[in-house]
Amino acid sequence: MSDSANRPVALTLENIHKSYGSLEVLKGVSLTAYDGDVISILGSSGSGKSTLLRCVNLLEKPNQGTIMVGDEKLLLKPGKSGELQAVSNRQLEQLRARVGFVFQNFNLWPHRTIIQNITEGPTQVLKIKKDQAISEAEQLLDKVGLLDKKDAYPANLSGGQRQRVAIARALAMRPRVLLFDEPTSALDPELVNEVLAVMHELAEEGRTMLIVTHEMRFAREVSSQVVFLHQGRIEEIGSPEQVFDNPKSERVRDFMSSHR
Ligand SMILES: Nc1ncnc2c1ncn2[C@@H]1O[C@H](COP(=O)(O)OP(=O)(O)OP(=O)(O)O)[C@@H](O)[C@H]1O
Ligand SMILES: [Mg+2]
Repeated sequence: MSDSANRPVALTLENIHKSYGSLEVLKGVSLTAYDGDVISILGSSGSGKSTLLRCVNLLEKPNQGTIMVGDEKLLLKPGKSGELQAVSNRQLEQLRARVGFVFQNFNLWPHRTIIQNITEGPTQVLKIKKDQAISEAEQLLDKVGLLDKKDAYPANLSGGQRQRVAIARALAMRPRVLLFDEPTSALDPELVNEVLAVMHELAEEGRTMLIVTHEMRFAREVSSQVVFLHQGRIEEIGSPEQVFDNPKSERVRDFMSSHR
């Protein structure tokens, strides 16, 4: 499958449902990202944004739905308590390697140096030779402006620096798609822009990204599509111009006017 510009599909979510006990958090979400798409996911607190991102690589197990990376479908089977689980752990590991995740709180390994944080996945999961992994990690650190920090530990970095390392770590896995869950919301305001600048550059390079963010100006600038989630459903989806300036949904209009 490909879009009108003939870009292949990078990620497909079909009819994703997720409940916690009797609370239905995702009520059938479908979304397609083509290669090079930057999709921002907006919505009020509790609308299911994080849950949706986490379902993509099974950090949360959906109760129903289909997940495809490229044209490979993740094989799922019902497990206990009605959640789906991977049929093959090997396939799940391969899929996770192709879908990078950048968390709000960085999730770096505290007892490893910056360069070790970045080379761990490529050497252990992708089986890339150590020399090669180090040289790629150095290039990525240079790209995010932190080559001089390669032998430091995460505790010695600022929040903005840690998040840039986390982005370099995700890139080192050569992912097809990058997922960001509020990557700047744990940062002091003066550190937000250095992280957004790196993400901007990735968008310009044509990286495929799904980004949960409250940075409205940034979302408007980088997105090819904007998705507004409300109570576990897509309330509106469209170009940034449509969703920000001319939303069809009253709810989206209210949200936009209270987030300017
Ligand atoms: N592990 C969990 N157990 C039970 N309920 C959960 C769990 N994780 C999330 N929820 C609930 O699911 C709903 C959606 O949560 P989610 O974290 O996806 O929202 P969000 O849109 O990311 O919100 P925020 O903007 O505050 O990050 C909320 O009502 C939340 O309380
Ligand atoms: Mg969230």
